[in-house]
Formats: sequence, structure tokens, C-alpha cells
Amino acid sequence: MAVLIVFGLLLSLAMVCNGGITSTFVRKTESTVDMPYESDAFQIPPGHNAPQQVHITQGDQEGTAMIVSWITPDEPGSSVVLFWSDKHKTKKAEGKAKQYKYHDYTSGYIHHCTIRKLEHNTKYYYKIGIGQAERTFWFVTPPAVGPDAPYTFGLLGDLGQTFDSNKTLAHYESNPLKGQTVLCLGDLSYADNHPNHDQVKWDTFGRFIERSAAYQPWIHTAGNHEIDYAPEIGETKPFKPYKHRYTTPFKASGSTAPFWYSVKIASAHIIVLSSYSSYGKYTPQYKWLEQELPKVNRDETPWLIVLVHSPWYNSYNYHYMEGETMRVQFESWFVQHKVDVVFAGHVHAYERSERVSNIANNLENGKCSPVKDQSAPVYITIGDGGNIEGLATNMRDPQPDYSAYREASFGHAIFDIKNRTHAYYSWHRNDDGAAVKADSMWFFNRYHHPVDDSTSSQS
Ligand SMILES: [Fe+2]
Repeated sequence: MAVLIVFGLLLSLAMVCNGGITSTFVRKTESTVDMPYESDAFQIPPGHNAPQQVHITQGDQEGTAMIVSWITPDEPGSSVVLFWSDKHKTKKAEGKAKQYKYHDYTSGYIHHCTIRKLEHNTKYYYKIGIGQAERTFWFVTPPAVGPDAPYTFGLLGDLGQTFDSNKTLAHYESNPLKGQTVLCLGDLSYADNHPNHDQVKWDTFGRFIERSAAYQPWIHTAGNHEIDYAPEIGETKPFKPYKHRYTTPFKASGSTAPFWYSVKIASAHIIVLSSYSSYGKYTPQYKWLEQELPKVNRDETPWLIVLVHSPWYNSYNYHYMEGETMRVQFESWFVQHKVDVVFAGHVHAYERSERVSNIANNLENGKCSPVKDQSAPVYITIGDGGNIEGLATNMRDPQPDYSAYREASFGHAIFDIKNRTHAYYSWHRNDDGAAVKADSMWFFNRYHHPVDDSTSSQS
């Protein structure tokens, strides 16, 4: 009887299946709608032709350059950025402005300006715009690349621009763990969910994220909602709006396209891949990754992190196995090079995997199930930013062994690197206070401290 009572109590906390934990947290179900065009979250800055949609991203491999991007709505204005710090006098950099047309929409003037030769670990101020419409922002450069440089990454995926998206961003901003750079896992504006891929939604999204993206770099991953391929309205160039608006420092890592590239930040080497660019053998992305992985120096950057939009291990009945062809193509490399963690979006829920691999199959030996593998990454799906498509609630049953924790709630995560051996990871659901960790794990570095860090084997 006592055993039955204890079992009942356990069930009330979480449903234990074949695999890990399926959280039974019940969130309020409400319809997810975009914030209206005139919402405060999309406020247009005052002044004629004032720069808007300001956002920054790292501008080189080492973190001594920043790309500043913004849009002037009415006329080209100036592409100049003035920047200074408490110990550096004002310098000037000049960028370029471009427009694009999409169906019956013409964009504002989209400026990108790279400011270089920045000092590490320094707060810089920057000013854009002319006269009455000048705007000043600031950011802090990351510490010099090195094996024990601590750093805190925020993780956001599939954000969109609904009232829930606003909650997710506010929740991230108020998290006491203080993310220093956002690793954004793709699917930004969801403009393509609206008639003719309503490009104004790209503008409102740019104004929405400015409050974060103008002050800390966002590292971008391309998602399917960035493709904007719409032959029915004459738009046949994939990624046109995204490519114009969100630039990346791809050339610095020897990439030939903005959708796959790498950056080093503090003690992390971050590889960004594109689920929606070809990756078969001999393709540019394949060749680039083949050359990139051996270049990673774990004595310089112990933490090897990969970002991709479509997850490889996903136990929801949404986008199930969509990441399979890329997994088959690249998973053995990830195990060989001991990738610490792979972050993905796409599925509008949260899931964390065990360290597993599924690379033994040769079509003849029947070895086609994932197995625990201490050289494999942890796969985390964090497509729970709160976009207009709503939550993915339908899960595969029973929970497979590869799945350590899963829950259909909106939220964000933090990956907090302490040193070369330890990083603290936590996931924060919107329904709780920002400091509450709904799921967490101490990561042990796969190169410097390859000890079993599974939460299920520790409990
Ligand atoms: Fe997606």
C-alpha cells in the first residue's frame, strides 16, 4: 500500500515513461495572436526618418567587431555609426544602405555598418541617425577568446510577435542570470503566415526585438519562416527579406553564404548551420563544415555549440523526423568532434535529450536505434518563443529513451559557461517567475571533463 501511495505521488509530479520526464505542468490555454500593428511593442521612434529596428550581431570571428543594422523609413539618411567608450575617443565607421522589393512592398533603407578594432570586455556607446532623429545605444564586447572566459548565452527560438512572444522576451530580459548574447534559433517574424507574406510584419518584428537586439548581439540561425519563397506572387528568391535585414559575419569563418558560419565568443566556438540550404555531400555547406570542425581548438574554446533550426532528436508529433536527413549526414562528425550541445527550434515546445547517437547503422546490421553515447551532444529543442502558430502539445507516447525532459510551455533558456569544465543550463517557462528553473542541468565539457552528466543517471 505504502509503495502504491509513493508511486501515486511520483505520478502527480511527473509522468515517468520509457524515457525521461514528461512534465505534467498545465499551462493556461489561450489563443496566440499577433500584437496589433499600433502596439507599444512596435513603437516608431520620434523624429523624421529616425533609425528603427536597430540590432547588432558579432562582426568577426573573435569578438572585436560588431555589425550595427537599422532601417530608415523615408529616405537613405546616413549610414554612419559613431562609437566610443569611456576610454576610447569617438570613431566613425560608414556602412551601406539597400532596399528590397517583395511583391507590392518596398522596404525602407536597410543599413549595415561593421565597426571594428573594438577592445574586449568594454562597454561601447554608438550613435546613428541625423539631427533631431539621432539615437544612442550601447553594448558590451565579449571577453577575449580563451579557455576559461565565463560567458552567459540566452536562447530564444521561434519567437514571432504575439502577446506570448512579448512575454518571452520580457522574461528573458528580467532573468537574473543576465544573458550577454542571444543565440536565436530561427523563425523570426512569421510574416509568411500573413497574406502575401506581409512584409510590414518584418518591420514590426524588427521594432519589437530592438529593446534587446540593439544592446546585445543576437546570433541568427535561418528557419523555414525565413525562406519567404512564394512563386504564386512572383517571389522566387529564397531568404530575400531575411538576407537583406539580418546579416551575419559568414566570410570571417570562410563560409560562402550567410546561412552557415561560425563565431568564437569567450570560451565557446559556435557553429551555425542551415536546415534549409543544401547539405548533401559536395555541397558548399557540407564542405564548409567538413573543414570547420577540425579547426575548432578546444584548448582555446572548450565549448563547442551548434545551432540549427530543425531538431535531430524530437519526440513531439510535430515536425517529427524532419531533421533526419541532416542528422544522417552530420551526426558522426558531431560525435567524433565531441560537440557539447546542439540547440534547435522549429517545434513549438521544449525538449532536452540524453547524450545519444545513432550512427552505427550501415543499412545491413540492423543497428538503427539511438544509444547512450558520452561523446555525443545533448540536443535541446527550444522553439517555444510564443509565435502565432501556438504550442505543440501532442507528444509521442511512450516517451522515447533519448528524451530526458519535455514540456509544452513557452519559455527561454540560459547557457551559463563557468569555466572550461562546467556550464550551468536552465530553462525558464513564461508561467513562472524569471528566476525559476523549470528544467536545468550541469553540463560537463566533453573535451576537458568528459564525465557522465546525464540528469537521469545522477538522480
Ligand atoms: Fe520552424
